[in-house]
Parts: sequence; C-alpha cells; structure tokens
Amino acid sequence: MPSRRHVLALLTAAPFAASCGTGNLPDPVAAWRAPGAGETDLRRFCLAHAILAPNPHNRQPWLIELSGENELVFFADLERLLPATDPFDRQIVLGCGAFLELFDLAARARGQRAEITLWPEGEPQPRLDARPAAHVRLVAADTPKDDLFDHILARRTNREAFVDRPVSDDTLTAIAEAALRPWQPASVGPTIAGAPVLALPPSPLRVDWTRTPDQLAALRSLAWNGFDTECHTPVAYQESVDLMRIGRAEIAQHRDGLVLDGPMIEFAKAIGLLNRRTLADVNNSFTRDGINAWRPLAEGAPTYAWMTSLANTRAAQIIAGRAYARFNLAATSQGLAMHPWSQTLQEYPEMASLYAEAERLTGAGESETVQMLVRIGYGESVPPAPRRGLSEHLQT
Ligand SMILES: Cc1cc2nc3c(=O)[nH]c(=O)nc-3n(C[C@H](O)[C@H](O)[C@H](O)COP(=O)(O)O)c2cc1C
Repeated sequence: MPSRRHVLALLTAAPFAASCGTGNLPDPVAAWRAPGAGETDLRRFCLAHAILAPNPHNRQPWLIELSGENELVFFADLERLLPATDPFDRQIVLGCGAFLELFDLAARARGQRAEITLWPEGEPQPRLDARPAAHVRLVAADTPKDDLFDHILARRTNREAFVDRPVSDDTLTAIAEAALRPWQPASVGPTIAGAPVLALPPSPLRVDWTRTPDQLAALRSLAWNGFDTECHTPVAYQESVDLMRIGRAEIAQHRDGLVLDGPMIEFAKAIGLLNRRTLADVNNSFTRDGINAWRPLAEGAPTYAWMTSLANTRAAQIIAGRAYARFNLAATSQGLAMHPWSQTLQEYPEMASLYAEAERLTGAGESETVQMLVRIGYGESVPPAPRRGLSEHLQT
C-alpha cells in the first residue's frame, strides 16, 4: 500500500518520464526528438517545432491545412476547447499564439519568416468558431535567427518546488525584454519641438513582477486561493479530471492532457486507489492531500510575474500567447523555471472575486486584461510533456 506521502507526490502531476516503455503504443515524447529532421518542406519543419508550444491543459488545439507551395491555413481545434475554465476561449487563443511564435522562430532559423494574417475572415466573439485563426505564408527574409529558437527543445512548464533563491530584477528585466522584443518601438522617430516622438505605437503588452514583499505575499495567497477555488468548483475541477492521463498506457494513448506518471501511479492505479472516480472526489483523503500538496508551491514561489495586454481582442490574445512563448523560452535560456497559475485569470462566475483581486494586485488598468500569471524560480529540470505528433494536426 503506498503511503499517503507517496500518493501525495503522485497527485502533483509529474510530467511524463521519457524513459518509460509503452509496448506497442506511440512514444508520447517522440515529437521532442530532432523535430522536423529530414523534412524538405520548410512548413513541416516549422510545424514540427510549433507543436512543442506551451498551451492550456496540453490540449494542443491546433489544426493545419497546407495550401500551395509555401502557405497554410491555421485553425483552433474546436474539439479541444476548455469551456468550463476558459469560457471565452481566451487561453486557447493564447496557446494558438504560442504555436505561431514557435513556427516563426523556426522559419527565421532557416532564413525565412512567417507572414501571418490573423483572423482573415474576422474575429470570432464571444466564442471561437470555424473561421481560421490565421493565414500563414513563408517568405524569404534577411533577419538573423532569434536565439530563442535554440531553447525550444529545453523549454518546459515546471510544476516542481523551486529552490529558495531570489530571482534578480536584472534577470527578470532581461526575460521580459526578450518576451516583448518584437512589439517594442523599433526606433525613436522625429522630434516635435525638440521632444522625441515614438515612431511606432507602444507595445500592446507589458510584463511586470512582484516588487515588494507585501505584493509577493498577496500573490502567493491569491495563487493558492485560485487553485483551491477551482478544485472546489465541480464543473471546473471535473474538466481537469477528465483530462488527467493516469499511468503510462493512458498517457501514450492520448499524448495530451495532464499527466500522472511514475511507478507509484501504476501501483496505486492497479490496486484501485487511484482512478478518475477517486480523483473527482475532493473529499477522498488522498485526493484532498494531493490538492493540498500544491499549496507550498504557490506559497513558496520566489516571485510571480504577469503579462497584461492593453486590449483583449483575438489579435491581442494571439500577441499575448506569442509573447508568453518567448517569455518561457527566455526564462529557459537563463536557467529559470516557469509555471503558470491561471486559475484566478479565468472568467467563470465562481472565480469572479479572485479575478478582481488579481486585477487589483497586478495593477491592471480599467480596460487592460491580465493574460498570464506565472511563478518563476530555479528548480530541477523536468521531462517534456507529451505531444500527439504533427500528423494529428494536419488536415487533408
Ligand atoms: C494560456 C496558458 C495557461 C496555462 N495555465 C496553466 C496553469 O494554470 N497551470 C499549469 O500547471 N500549467 C498551465 N499552463 C501550462 C500548460 O499546462 C503546459 O504548457 C502544457 O501542459 C504543455 O506542457 P509544456 O509547457 O511543458 O510543453 C498554461 C499554458 C498556457 C499557454
């Protein structure tokens, strides 16, 4: 019988261990090994990188129609939305933005760039519909490779505890700048009456982080309260339970969702201690302990950072997703671990008061939207999360 501490550790959703064999089932982390190797079609090389993007609940909600020689149409996969926790599909669209960013980074690494036309048939509101999210065309470019490309294979969402080591303002500034670089004013333009005038509009996004001990303490509590509230909101919690992949056979079968992996998981599953029914029951003592195991992660975070957009159009959400992918990659380049805590940013009624609290604590302006809230620190590296593989995303 596993001890309570063991089960507790299992319920903290360890990512899939690449070393696990799964018999005849597909390797859930194959997509992370030499993506696009041997591809002669540059679009497929870029897509093999794009599917490694961060995305909510690892739904991988991306569909592609290749067109002509160098174009494609990109759709959000309407079968892979998160209606309970993401009722307006905002986070799904962020995941689409992250996908496009990795696509473009891969194109630039090969001397081209992605010319992206967002929502060519109009923005779907308030929910996504069958209209495309983007038309993408590869065009030759003389822009140099972006070094963030080199960190795509090492980037992770890290749900481990982080060590008690502060993250310096200089490091946070560096990764925030890397995240926002494509949207920063490129130059200072002409002057009016001697005062410089920005040649381009200001960045549509800003990144900030905890600046005072009081603000850090408040965000630590907020993150935990959001998590706890979600676990005690049955429809929202059930959405996660339905996407939990328990043990290596389920993980290999689905290659998506929230992974529960390791020898103790297999054992607890085999003896009936762990299954979708026990996970769904928040009064089950092991499940309750598993949920509470997330509390020290929230409350011990060395720092929180957040990304706020000026608008909340679909295009603004795509930009936020692109910037988040860059933020995560830049953190990887600095040896930092990153872990989103999105619960309090979710737009369902039971979260409304914590949503307002998140806006207040992050200093969001009246018409601004906090798009991402993440815990940042230094931690042990973790294995990659599963991917379904490029062929699952291609439509004929
Ligand atoms: C918009 C968005 C919201 C996310 N929110 C959470 C979250 O609240 N908790 C969490 O553990 N991970 C969150 N993630 C991370 C995803 O779960 C993660 O990207 C996915 O499982 C794939 O894993 P990977 O990033 O290691 O490739 C979020 C990612 C995105 C893009």
